[in-house]
Amino acid sequence: MTSKKSVIGFLYSGKNLGKEEKMFLELAKKKNIELIPINIFKRIDEKEFREQIKKCDLIYNNTAEDFVIEYIKTIEEFGKKVIDNSRLYYYTEDKWMFYVKCQEHNIPTINTILLSENLNIAKKELEDFNHWPVVLKRVVGTMGEYVEKAENPEQAVRVIKKFWKKGSEKIPIIAQEMVLSPSYRITIINKKIVQTAIKTSKTWKATGVHGKTFKKFKIDSDLKKIVDKVVKAVKINICGIDLLKKDGKWLVLEVNSEPAFDFFENEREKLVDLTLNFLKQACINQKNKKAHYKK
Ligand SMILES: Nc1ncnc2c1ncn2[C@@H]1O[C@H](COP(=O)(O)OP(=O)(O)O)[C@@H](O)[C@H]1O
Ligand SMILES: [Mg+2]
Repeated sequence: MTSKKSVIGFLYSGKNLGKEEKMFLELAKKKNIELIPINIFKRIDEKEFREQIKKCDLIYNNTAEDFVIEYIKTIEEFGKKVIDNSRLYYYTEDKWMFYVKCQEHNIPTINTILLSENLNIAKKELEDFNHWPVVLKRVVGTMGEYVEKAENPEQAVRVIKKFWKKGSEKIPIIAQEMVLSPSYRITIINKKIVQTAIKTSKTWKATGVHGKTFKKFKIDSDLKKIVDKVVKAVKINICGIDLLKKDGKWLVLEVNSEPAFDFFENEREKLVDLTLNFLKQACINQKNKKAHYKK
């Protein structure tokens, strides 16, 4: 027999528990889930951390901090399951690999090339690519911080140098066709579509959720097929898929782990609730699996 209560470690980051974290804790209580908050911004003693983790049936990562990946890998090494697991970050973290993945799975995406580290060669590659203005991006980055456009090869080289200087690291750069379109966000929980939001912006870059109003949009049958393919390809349970539209056709821009739940404040609790339901089921599955191996 397995015990009734589900114990879930809840990774978060910040000075205090935020509004959404409090929602998680309150709703969890009602569902007979013991949520143990673990703040990765606090000092962590490895021994204590291990003991805390061992008490949990599974761990949920609710922080979008890049730093969290090392804690996730540590927890996995302790033998516990993390949602979403560290392997799944591979395609959300690396924009080039995401493009390659899309190509492999016939998922419509934006024309992209990986540029040479040698900037003279990169210039020639951009000339051959011949999409102006071109969007340049570091293969890793969030919040549009390392995403800029260039009108010509010389300007592109300046942007690349700027990225490398700013990040104090020569991280590979991709070049992408610019598609002028609002950004369409689809939020996925437990591999199902739970929300849509159009992100419009005064500039060509539409990032973040702050200080904007959002509208919903309809999922047509083409889009449904694309989303199913993306979910199957990246295997991530909880994510935000961003798409652009070109000449009436959907193009997948990227998949984000730990998607924002606050596009619509009045639906935030619903998304937290759906996440907890999913986590509870995942706990039960974990326990059953363990019981099975014990036999
Ligand atoms: N190829 C593109 N064409 C037009 N706009 C783009 C393109 N790539 C990115 N953008 C805009 O820039 C924003 C940030 O780019 P994105 O690839 O999502 O990087 P990040 O991971 O930093 O959010 C997007 O939300 C979109 O509004
Ligand atoms: Mg983005």
